[in-house]
Amino acid sequence: MQVAIDGPASAGKSTVAKIIAKNMGYIYLDTGAMYRACTLVAKQNHLAYDDQSGILKALNNNIISFKNINDDQRVYINDKDVSFDIRTPEITANVSQVSALSEIRKKMVEIQRKIAGENNIIMDGRDIGTTVLPNADVKIFLIASVASRAKRRYLDFKEKGINQNLTDIEKDIADRDYKDMHRQISPLRKAEDAYQVDTTDMSIDQVVNKLTQIIKKNK
Ligand code: C5P
Repeated sequence: MQVAIDGPASAGKSTVAKIIAKNMGYIYLDTGAMYRACTLVAKQNHLAYDDQSGILKALNNNIISFKNINDDQRVYINDKDVSFDIRTPEITANVSQVSALSEIRKKMVEIQRKIAGENNIIMDGRDIGTTVLPNADVKIFLIASVASRAKRRYLDFKEKGINQNLTDIEKDIADRDYKDMHRQISPLRKAEDAYQVDTTDMSIDQVVNKLTQIIKKNK
């Protein structure tokens, strides 16, 4: 069983995907975390964010992996937990540049397909329904207004001790959406056969219920 959840930044994809995966006993994979980890590898190795061959080379010595601990997906680079480091404003501001690099995408998509081939999975990202798993059993496209997404991210940051003002977050979200929607390879868009759900005025529970209904109907 493969469930693809795509949508713009901070639409609530990972929050609900994690809950639904736990409820249904599926594996959850946050593909955004993979591109964030690639961006962190670039930073740690003092590489420009558009240095495709440099980043690819660095990825050979910096192995990205995941572990699910206490319902949370932790991200590692060479066994060091970088789950916090991949969510700083600097990484967030530059991840769209790294994720636009064709060879980096190729490498990540290969890993994503391998994991999906071995498990019942809920995968969230930007191109899961269109490119990574075009034959997924269920495809969902989550959207929400920029204002509501910025507010969610602001509260999430506050909880994690990251200070960033709301206006900057709104700008970051709009910029990132634009870049993700306008890149040449696998741009963010709704797959034709995806269910679109607008979460602007929905609580997490409501989104979980709605998506669970859709998934069960298509099982
Ligand atoms: O989901 P998250 O906001 O953490 O994703 C970070 C970035 O990773 C996105 O803005 C996008 O540039 C990239 N991404 C992607 N394809 C995916 C998932 C994320 O290009 N499947």
